[in-house]
Amino acid sequence: MQYTLMHKDMPVADLVLDEATSAVQKVCDLYYAEHLPVGVSVKRGVVDRAALNSWWIDRSIPASRSGVQKALESLKLSSTRLLLTKSMGLSLSDQYWIKPQGSDVRWSQVNFFSNDFSEDIGDILWGKASKEETLSFHSPDNTSDGFLKKRWKIINGARCLLKAGSPPFMQQPFNEVIASAVCRRLDIPHVPYQLCWDDELPYSVCPDFITPDTELVSAWRVMQTRKKDNSTSVYRHFLNCCEALRLSGITCAIDQMIVLDYLIANEDRHQNNFGLIRDADTLEWLGAAPIFDSGSSLGYDKLTNQILSGKGVECKPFKKTHEEQLALVTDMSWINFDALHGLEDEIKEILAPAGEYLDQARQNAIIVSIQRRAEQLQELALSQRQTTDLAESDVVEDVAENYQRSGPTMNMF
Ligand SMILES: Nc1ncnc2c1ncn2[C@@H]1O[C@H](COP(=O)(O)OP(=O)(O)OP(=O)(O)O)[C@@H](O)[C@H]1O
Ligand SMILES: [Mg+2]
Repeated sequence: MQYTLMHKDMPVADLVLDEATSAVQKVCDLYYAEHLPVGVSVKRGVVDRAALNSWWIDRSIPASRSGVQKALESLKLSSTRLLLTKSMGLSLSDQYWIKPQGSDVRWSQVNFFSNDFSEDIGDILWGKASKEETLSFHSPDNTSDGFLKKRWKIINGARCLLKAGSPPFMQQPFNEVIASAVCRRLDIPHVPYQLCWDDELPYSVCPDFITPDTELVSAWRVMQTRKKDNSTSVYRHFLNCCEALRLSGITCAIDQMIVLDYLIANEDRHQNNFGLIRDADTLEWLGAAPIFDSGSSLGYDKLTNQILSGKGVECKPFKKTHEEQLALVTDMSWINFDALHGLEDEIKEILAPAGEYLDQARQNAIIVSIQRRAEQLQELALSQRQTTDLAESDVVEDVAENYQRSGPTMNMF
């Protein structure tokens, strides 16, 4: 089938997609190279088809998504890739879509930011039988990423992402709310998550942080914009890529993310769980995306004693341990530890309705572990402040004066 890859109403390139696999078989005419997905390169006018195909296939629901096999059975489909073309590849996280050849449909008529969408696919992915006899595939759920069960819903006119937890503890929705509370207290730009219940199962709800004018570009995609040599760390590479895109102020956002992830012992801040936002029309880089997806933290899949011991906590995306990663933080002076007073009681309230999923001992362990980490962080921040403000490290000589004085001497040679 022939399509045009679109960026809002901007035609990007004509494509041939394989009907059986949805793969990009061929890239035909290229119209606006600068509007290609970030990280897809063009050499001598030829688009890197493999890179474009991998971007396109990554748009489909991952095969690892909880409950996806059952959903595919009820949809009578062999792969989630086949859902991509059924809704023109439209998403609520960016502005790309595919227009069937010969169609004159416009962005304003199809995008999910301003047009309603069907709940059918969401129902099925959420584990509910669809109420409709004939299914409508017109849904942003066909292009949603991530492991956890999730669906988009329009709540009071706002596009919201609903996300479940994983058994047995179903802790991720609670963790999202706790992470939101930490961010709010420390003034870290974040997506606010709330806790809800459906059929006695907890889930989190957050608003879409993308507007019809913006889009999320994951750190992974940002890092495809330049070659990384083996001697450059992932952290440095990411900052180099941002610098090359002429985006400043990212170090501060990364400092904030590392500090939050240390506090909540986040184990899954992979390169698709943070990123940048750009203007989809002007392609101007606007800054770091607010913090989202912080649920795989606070020992979400561990036993209570393991939460208490604090051992075996994985770390991503830059270093293997949170302690090493914390050493990358350039400045801790912004952390207002006073703002964390009362966090314990707030977490107690957040966890109180967890009932059978998180027993009292587990709830206490979660609170103790975050308190301990906050104390350790405070000690570290204090020592950082002291080392950066030691009298011994003050400038001893007035360099400018010395330089002037040494001027004539240098001229002697
Ligand atoms: N509020 C939001 N607004 C717009 N896009 C979002 C929002 N939240 C998440 N996304 C997009 O949806 C993707 C999946 O969401 P999320 O990362 O929260 O799911 P997850 O199942 O927890 O992922 P993981 O597999 O990393 O655990 C994100 O990578 C991001 O691209
Ligand atoms: Mg994620």
